[in-house]
Amino acid sequence: MASLRVDVLTTFPRAFDGFLDASLLGKARAAGIVEVRVHDLRAWAAEPQRRTDDYAYGGGPGMVLRVEPIVAAVEELRQADGWVGLLTPQAPPLTQPRVQALARRGQLILICGRYEGVDDRVRPLVVDEEISVGDYVLSGGEAAAMVVIDAAARLAPGVVGAAASLQGESHAAGRLSHPQFTRPEEFRGLRAPAVLLSGHHQRVAQWRRAQGLHRTQHLRPDLLVQRGLSNDERALMHQYPPIDTPPPP
Ligand SMILES: C[S@@+](CC[C@H](N)C(=O)[O-])C[C@H]1O[C@@H](n2cnc3c(N)ncnc32)[C@H](O)[C@@H]1O
Repeated sequence: MASLRVDVLTTFPRAFDGFLDASLLGKARAAGIVEVRVHDLRAWAAEPQRRTDDYAYGGGPGMVLRVEPIVAAVEELRQADGWVGLLTPQAPPLTQPRVQALARRGQLILICGRYEGVDDRVRPLVVDEEISVGDYVLSGGEAAAMVVIDAAARLAPGVVGAAASLQGESHAAGRLSHPQFTRPEEFRGLRAPAVLLSGHHQRVAQWRRAQGLHRTQHLRPDLLVQRGLSNDERALMHQYPPIDTPPPP
């Protein structure tokens, strides 16, 4: 049985073509670790027209997704360990700790809004949590659902080859990751840092940790306000100064 099952409710199922088969997610699905089913909301809309949207009460431009097909779909698809998320720009932006919590759920049901959004009665009736992928407005929840699926699926055991590579990632421990380099050693006068070519594993690990902290301090100081810096980390940052100053955000 898959360790993560995702059911997507959408009026644009074709939007997921390609995405589901690509790269890590495609391999995880082929290996049966992650299962993603994309459902056309029209299947739960009443005959003969199977309309999933209607005009907004109170007037105004744009359509609203109707409550009945969404509630019927969730009630049919929801399993005992099911969790229902509504994609919306009105929630606090998604963070890695929340993604980690989602990846531990057995089943995620993701409701993709469109047009002016979703009839608000969906929220009290079936939604466990509202999810935004950032403080900006997309034209539909599909791209946001792909963000959630990608971020959660790669945390499912066995999807990313080396579990250790997840631990050092940006946001896994409230800081950013270190800069990366690969061949050639020099390109247009810019050299890869000598320590990375030294073969000295302990120094490489310390250098990477220090650079991750420098990057965090420079690019995302808000992350350090939350978690602080230990004396050990301060000493390491002093020992290994920042390699360069990345452009400010
Ligand atoms: C054009 S938006 C509706 C915006 C809504 N009228 C408002 O102002 O809050 C249509 C749909 O896109 C999705 N969406 C838009 N921005 C999003 C975001 N930042 N995160 C998650 N979903 C988003 C939601 O599912 C939403 O119902």
